[in-house]
Amino acid sequence: MLKFLLVFCACVYTVTAGKHDAYRSYSVHNVQVRDMSDLQLLQDLQLNLGVDIWEHGMGGVRDAVVMVSPEQARSFLEALDENGIAHSLHIADVAKSLEEHENDLASYRSSRQNRMIFNDYPRYAEVDAYMERIAATYPNLVTLVNAGPSFEGRDIKYLKISTTNFTDASKPIYFMDAMMHAREWVTTPVALYSIHRLLENRRPEDQDLLDDIDWIILPIVNPDGYEFSHTDDRLWRKTRSVNLNVSTECVGVDANRNFDIAFNTLGVSPNPCEETFPGPYAFSEVETAYIRDILFEYLPRIQLYNNIHSHGNYIFFGFGNRTLTPNAVHLHHVGSAMGAIMDTMKLFQARFYLVANSGIVLYPTSGTAQDYAQEIGVPFSYTLELPGYGYGFTVPPWFMAHMVKETWEGIAVSARLARIHYRRRFN
Ligand SMILES: *[C@@H]1O[C@H](CO)[C@@H](O)[C@H](O)[C@H]1NC(C)=O
Ligand SMILES: *[C@@H]1O[C@H](CO)[C@@H](O)[C@H](O)[C@H]1NC(C)=O
Ligand SMILES: *[C@@H]1O[C@H](CO)[C@@H](O)[C@H](O)[C@H]1NC(C)=O
Repeated sequence: MLKFLLVFCACVYTVTAGKHDAYRSYSVHNVQVRDMSDLQLLQDLQLNLGVDIWEHGMGGVRDAVVMVSPEQARSFLEALDENGIAHSLHIADVAKSLEEHENDLASYRSSRQNRMIFNDYPRYAEVDAYMERIAATYPNLVTLVNAGPSFEGRDIKYLKISTTNFTDASKPIYFMDAMMHAREWVTTPVALYSIHRLLENRRPEDQDLLDDIDWIILPIVNPDGYEFSHTDDRLWRKTRSVNLNVSTECVGVDANRNFDIAFNTLGVSPNPCEETFPGPYAFSEVETAYIRDILFEYLPRIQLYNNIHSHGNYIFFGFGNRTLTPNAVHLHHVGSAMGAIMDTMKLFQARFYLVANSGIVLYPTSGTAQDYAQEIGVPFSYTLELPGYGYGFTVPPWFMAHMVKETWEGIAVSARLARIHYRRRFN
C-alpha cells in the first residue's frame, strides 16, 4: 500500500510539477498608476529590474498589471511604495495559476463533443490543417499562400479570400494578422473565426463583406514562439531566433518592435534577454519581414490593417511617438465604432474598449507593425488588444466562444466603414 502511494505521488508530481516551474513564486501585481510619471516609473523599472509588464495601465483610469520574479519583488514593491503608488496582489504564484489554466483546458476539452477550432487554443499544426481544408473546400473564393518559413522552419501561411481573386481594384483589402506575440493565445481563434464567418457560416446579412471586400487573414505570425509557449514556456512573447552575435544566452526578438519605423528608439530594451528587445536591426526577423512584404504587395488597396494582440480592451492607432496622423479623426471614428459594437456585447468581466493613440494614453513605442503600416500608407492601421477578463494571457477557454463572436462584430463594422472611406478615396 505504501509503495502504491509513493508511486502514485510520484506520478502526480511529474504531472503538476515541471513545466511551469520557472514561474514558481513569481507574482503578479495590480498597480494603480495615477499619471504619466507613474507610467514612466514602471517603464524604468522594466528597464532596470527586468519586470514583465503584462498590461501598461492608463493613468487614473486603469491599473497596470506587472509580473515580478521572487528576486525582483522586494525592490519593485519598495519602489512603488516610495513613490506612493498603491498596489495589490493579483496572482501569488504564477506557476500555480498556469497549472490551473492547464487543468481548465483539459477539463474543457474532455467535456466537449463538438470541438470548434476557434473556441479553443489550437496548435500550429491544427491551424495549418484548417487553412488547408478551407482552401480545398472553397477553391473559387480562397487562395492559400505560404509567405515562407519561420526561423525554425514552420511555414507562415495566410488566406486570401475574394469573390474576384483580388483582381478588382475597386474593392478595398482588409488585412488582419494574429499571434505576433506568442503568449497572446486568444488572438488566433479570432482570426480563425473570421474565416469561418466569411465562408463556412456566412450569414445573408454579411454577404456584402464577402462581395465588396478582399480579405487577407494570417492567423499565426510567430509560429515558433507560439509552439514554444505550448511546449515550454506559456508566457513566451518573442520570436525564437538565435543570433550568437547578439546574445549567447537569450533568444528571440519582440516582433512588434522590429519594424522599420523609428526602430530602437522608444519603449524598447537593449537587453536581448528582455521582452521588448527590438532585435539587432529592423526586420532582423523573417516573420516581420513577411508582414512587410504582404503590406507592400497589396499596398494601394489595403484600407485597414488590424494587428491583433491581447490583452486589456484597447484599440490603438499611431503613431507610437505621440504624433497623430493627418487622418487621426477618422482613425478614431472607425476605431470607436469597432469598440462600441464590441462593447454592446461585452461580458461583465471585460472592460469597455478604449480607443486612443497608444503613445498618448499609455506608453511610447517604436518599431510596431501598426505604425509601420500607417507610415507606408495604409489609411486605417490598428492594434487591437482583446479582453483578458482579469486572467491576463491565460483566458479560460470557455470565454472563447463569446470573444470570437463579439470581436467579429467589431471587425465587420470596421470593414464596412473602411470600405466607405475607400470608395470616397477612389471616386
Ligand atoms: C487566383 O489567381 C492566381 C494567379 O493566377 C491563382 O494562382 C489562384 O489559384 C487563383 N485563386 C482563385 C481562388 O481563383
Ligand atoms: C555575426 O558576425 C559576423 C562577423 O561580423 C558576420 O559575418 C555574421 O554574418 C554575423 N551573423 C549574424 C547571424 O548576424
Ligand atoms: C513621429 O513619427 C511619425 C511617423 O514616423 C513622424 O512623421 C513624426 O515626425 C514623428 N514625430 C516626432 C515628434 O518625432
